[in-house]
Amino acid sequence: MSFYITTPLYYVNSDPHIGHAYTTILADVIARYRRLKGEDVKFLTGTDEHGQKIYDAAVALGHSPKEHCDIYSQRFKDLWVKLNIKYDDFIRTTDERHIKVVKFVLTELWNKGEIYSDTYQGWYCVPDERFWTEKDLDEGKCPDCGREVSKIEEKNYFFRMSKYQEWLISHIEDNPDFIQPNSRRNEILSFLSKPLNDLCISRPKSRLKWGIPLPFDEDFVTYVWFDALLNYISAPGYHANLKEFHKWWPSDLQLMAKDIITTHAVYWPTMLKAADIEPPKTVFAHGWWTVDEKKMGKSLGNAVDPHFLVDDFGCDQFRYFLMRGMVLGQDSTYSFERMVEVINTELANNFGNIASRLFKMIETNLDATLPAFWNSKSEPADIKLIEQTRIIREKVEDHFDKLQIDRGLREINQLMNLVNAYLEEQKPWKLSKADDEAVNFRLQNILYVATEALRITSILLFPIMPEKMETILSVFDEMVPPSLEQAKWGLLKSHRINIIDSLFPRIDLKKIEEDSRRKESKPQDIKKLISAKEDKEIVDYDDFSKLDLVVAEVLEAKKAENADKLLLLKIDIGEKEPRDLVAGLAMHYEPEQLIGEKIVVIANLKAAKIRGHVSRGMLLAADDGENVVLLKPSKDIKPGSRIK
Ligand code: MSP
Repeated sequence: MSFYITTPLYYVNSDPHIGHAYTTILADVIARYRRLKGEDVKFLTGTDEHGQKIYDAAVALGHSPKEHCDIYSQRFKDLWVKLNIKYDDFIRTTDERHIKVVKFVLTELWNKGEIYSDTYQGWYCVPDERFWTEKDLDEGKCPDCGREVSKIEEKNYFFRMSKYQEWLISHIEDNPDFIQPNSRRNEILSFLSKPLNDLCISRPKSRLKWGIPLPFDEDFVTYVWFDALLNYISAPGYHANLKEFHKWWPSDLQLMAKDIITTHAVYWPTMLKAADIEPPKTVFAHGWWTVDEKKMGKSLGNAVDPHFLVDDFGCDQFRYFLMRGMVLGQDSTYSFERMVEVINTELANNFGNIASRLFKMIETNLDATLPAFWNSKSEPADIKLIEQTRIIREKVEDHFDKLQIDRGLREINQLMNLVNAYLEEQKPWKLSKADDEAVNFRLQNILYVATEALRITSILLFPIMPEKMETILSVFDEMVPPSLEQAKWGLLKSHRINIIDSLFPRIDLKKIEEDSRRKESKPQDIKKLISAKEDKEIVDYDDFSKLDLVVAEVLEAKKAENADKLLLLKIDIGEKEPRDLVAGLAMHYEPEQLIGEKIVVIANLKAAKIRGHVSRGMLLAADDGENVVLLKPSKDIKPGSRIK
């Protein structure tokens, strides 16, 4: 079975950031997972190199457009090497093979009367390279990005997109998988409930030279989207090698973020329809990585450079965090602290710790030889974990099939929790010293059940963390890259092994900060944390007076089970009912120390959900980088007293 997956072609006007890394890693994970299932995969990515934006970026940096594209396209390629992206093809829209196809399709559509010339009057958004009519504008600005638009009147060429509106609506209705997730499908259907305009597909050369000339009018170049979208067919060989092309087309999955779903779900299928080519099977738009609730991107200056994060945390840890951190289809807030927490909790403390403990026990107690499983000696706890491993494996596959990588990883983490609980209950370390045969069987069975869960998990995790999983799978003498067939219970072979070092060391935030200072090239996040102290904004009294600061008494305090930094408090602030408050204090205070204490809280802060716990307010504490100390009234005073 063949599987053809694509990412968008990224613009070469700036360096890649986490947003680009996310889509590409997601595509790589899905491609590797499909290969794991034994499918024949083609994974395509590349760069989008024509158009005004790129031309402007080249001029601003003093390059010729081609020089500029060569440099920036290479930066994407370099990052993909660093992120262990195993693509099968990398296409650039300046590649000759691509230009030929664009010209061919344009000629065909021109000959068929699908393209006509007309005078265009309207508004143009330069950064988005999109035309808008008066009624499209949002308070006079671009409805997509909110930036200024310029008035424009010029001859141009148009593609008869409106002609395909009815066809497109029925195609979307008849093929529920065509646009995913459903929220985006509904959005596009609602967009199509209004009349669809024809698409302007040219730019006069007098205004823009950097593009593919129209084969039927050399005074014009092709609109960047009409050019770029065609990469998905030019790369697998449309026009040049039809046999190869039909092996892959229609594509199985085209990934992107929600900002470019209209071009992929409206322009693209209608262009294909006009050229008598089948539409892709699925276009899938994921959400955005945001910073302070704004989309991460170059234009807002909040882009985070993946290079630093890979250097500091490791490639596989970074890949894991991105896959774990975004619920597919929804936006996700990028946070450095969250990344450290996910890596430490799920990789260092859970998966990595289980692996080290098991290998250590196998080394000390079984002479570094993997155990065997003695069916006749199995106990109910063994059977239970074997069954749980089987069920979770099935769930993981089901989630991965539906592209819900985050949910699959949550299941894997859950399995590791179960293995941990099993080991804690069975206590193999207590059996280890005995010489008795029964004890030896028990010890082998416990280690086998737990190690087998680890081996199966490592196969499932291979698409997400190929390098680390290769290391662990080689201990088990597994074929790499593995196949899903190997993830069956009971295939663990008993043999002597080489013990490996800890796979996922705990991240020490302080050490990273110091290293980055030494390198004098701090990760942008750390820079942000540091500079937050340095340049504080001056605020008016009015701003300050908006805060409702009150004295609170801590009634109850306990540690949050799912987050080792958090304490869950119940506080009295003089209201009828106590309030819940979540505080990141667990590293600095024991819960008992807080009960009965009077503290200061902001009472009118919007309620927030932190790791699943609702917090209605925030307490005040001082932080010198090492110690965090609570602020308390200097004399006893009633809960609910206002701070002025
Ligand atoms: N060149 C066009 C695409 C042409 S495809 C034929 C383009 N390029 S882009 O450089 O702006 O890349 C957009 C894509 O980068 C998004 O669709 C998404 O895949 C990824 N992302 C860029 N910023 C992102 C976030 N902040 N969050 C998630 N993904 C993001 O559009």
